[in-house]
Amino acid sequence: MDTVFVKDKTFSISITQDEIAERVQTIAREMAQDLEGINPLFVVILNGSFVFAADLLREFNHPCEVSFVRVSSYEGMQSTGTVTEVLGLTQDIKGRTVVIIEDIIDSGTTMSRVTEILKAQSPADLRICSLLVKPDNIKVALDIDYRCFEIPNDFIVGYGLDYDGLGRNLPAIYTVCE
Ligand code: IMP
Ligand code: MG
Repeated sequence: MDTVFVKDKTFSISITQDEIAERVQTIAREMAQDLEGINPLFVVILNGSFVFAADLLREFNHPCEVSFVRVSSYEGMQSTGTVTEVLGLTQDIKGRTVVIIEDIIDSGTTMSRVTEILKAQSPADLRICSLLVKPDNIKVALDIDYRCFEIPNDFIVGYGLDYDGLGRNLPAIYTVCE
């Protein structure tokens, strides 16, 4: 499919399933090399990262643990940037190597707040892995250890990312048509 209709907007293909799969595998291998013998804890930020995490972690062929957390900072097509808590982290992360898995870093507000909250719990190492980064929109200093794609500052949907709750099940990534 070259174009899709989600809710009330048309989106056109921007990253294909094959392109995603190839890049996700590359990043997973890079992570596996860096984190061999460590038993990292992957902290997956729901909802958007569920597809990415499922693909990425099945390519990560070393012992690891996975935890799913929830934060909230985004509504419709505009970031509100108000993360207050990280919900659902049951493991003690003190002294652990923690890798945050996120779908997209847009303004960076969400990730910066999540790292702040997790850092306060004294992990030995805290890394950031994001499927997508919008470099032109980042407003905070962030050390992003692993990124699959840098994309322009346009609204996208698919592969876990939604437009008003819809479109998460699209297997590729689509950009909104003006
Ligand atoms: P940030 O706090 O501005 O970096 O926004 C991060 C969150 O906003 C991500 O976890 C996504 O859920 C959401 N988001 C940012 N850009 C997009 C987009 O283009 N499509 C769908 N969701 C987005
Ligand atoms: Mg998200």
